[in-house]
Amino acid sequence: MTKTTAIILAAGQGTRMKSPLPKVLHPIAGQPMILRILSHCLAADFDEARVVLGHGHHLVQSVLEPFASLVQKQLHIQLHQQAQQLGTANAVGTADIASLDGDVIIVNGDHPLITSEDLKNFVTDFRERKLDLAVISVNLENPKEFGRIIRQSGQLKAIVETKDASSETLKIKEVNTGIYVAKAEVLKKYLPLIKNENSKKEFYLTDLISLAIDGGKNVEAILCNNTKVAHGVNTQEELAAATAQVFKSKVNQLMHAGVIFIDASNAYIEESVTIGAGSVIYPGVFMRGKTAIGPFCVIEPNAFISDCIVEDGVQIKAGSYLEQSHIKSQAKVGPYARIRPDTVIGKSAQIGNFVELKKVNFGDHSKAGHLSYLGDADIGQNVNIGCGTITCNYAADRKKYKTKIGDRVFVGSDSQFVAPVEVGSDSIIASGSTITKNVPEGALAIARGRQENKEGLAKRFTAGKKEV
Ligand code: UD1
Ligand code: CA
Repeated sequence: MTKTTAIILAAGQGTRMKSPLPKVLHPIAGQPMILRILSHCLAADFDEARVVLGHGHHLVQSVLEPFASLVQKQLHIQLHQQAQQLGTANAVGTADIASLDGDVIIVNGDHPLITSEDLKNFVTDFRERKLDLAVISVNLENPKEFGRIIRQSGQLKAIVETKDASSETLKIKEVNTGIYVAKAEVLKKYLPLIKNENSKKEFYLTDLISLAIDGGKNVEAILCNNTKVAHGVNTQEELAAATAQVFKSKVNQLMHAGVIFIDASNAYIEESVTIGAGSVIYPGVFMRGKTAIGPFCVIEPNAFISDCIVEDGVQIKAGSYLEQSHIKSQAKVGPYARIRPDTVIGKSAQIGNFVELKKVNFGDHSKAGHLSYLGDADIGQNVNIGCGTITCNYAADRKKYKTKIGDRVFVGSDSQFVAPVEVGSDSIIASGSTITKNVPEGALAIARGRQENKEGLAKRFTAGKKEV
């Protein structure tokens, strides 16, 4: 099989982004642009990807290296540095082209809407047509600053940049997407011949086209119907438009699979998230990362869910914030609950308003309805946690300790558990208790000041005072 290498150009400064972040690190639906493109190269089964870095290379490198080591068995990633941004041809030239063989696909790093299917199709088309070099073009109503595709009697002749174009040329609507496929030997032969004789004094990769045509090579512009591949990100507006596009197609895809959206234009579901059919998503919901929602769930307005497993029939009520947790079937969470990492909420359990959970195993059918903090705790089944309960897990020695509560325990309101502490099954904790010792199974624990009533004493405080 012919080897396929992708070269991704990402050295530009991205001045028009007006942002301290290197352009290719700007996220699209939660994923830096450059990682999106590399993920697509991976999904397209390419053998190798060479990324040309320049501006902010230290930062970009720190994002790319962990990804590269994760995928190295399937996609070999090389990073190259372009010391000075002398143009797109110069950028390709820094990617050690002498060592290339097979076919090479060149992609601008700032076109985040290209998909793996697009990339695959371009290489397949190129091979089927037995070309030496191809540029991917699209027809645009408003071709703005894109390089124009020049044809004579339908035959590709050259690409002309807007800055060097005549007013006649500027009327052409077929433009260069900045994606090229070439045989490695064509790249090696013609790239060094490119000169910087143009208005920007840059080495334009687009000049490769006319040079290879003059050299008698088989060169074509492959017209692509999907104009999204030409969506370059140069400004924050274009970034936001690309992000909106990705969220929109994710929601459409989910609707096709039977997910119900109250307002399809106001839901933000990252591409990696899965949702089961029959689940209802209210407006303003944000879902991230490895989140997997089962069927028949209801996710109410403004819920934020990151890296969570949510089983079937779960209700996440308005304004709840959930991270790296597992919610079992038929549970109810919120409104306004905070579920912090490493929490498991059992089947049909209920977590109510202003309840915070962190590293908790919360048993099946148990309830914590109101205003509680439960951290580093194992809580059994059918437990009732009264309003205002706190597990005091963080001790003066700056260490965290665990609270264990057995099955069917009734915890009265306003109780505290000073960890480490264990409460046996079927016990009762009286309201307002501060539990510092273990409670045996079946016991009633009371740990609060005893009440004294001083008969008639109230008058002493109120005598002679006017009612307000
Ligand atoms: C380029 C094309 C244009 C095409 C458009 C599509 C050239 C000369 N022009 O224009 O025909 O329609 O893309 O979006 O190629 N880069 C480097 N090093 C450099 C210069 C650029 O790595 O020295 C990278 C940039 O980071 C960017 C990509 O190459 O990812 C494209 O460069 P940019 O300057 O944005 O080219 P355009 O003007 O958009
Ligand atoms: Ca660009």
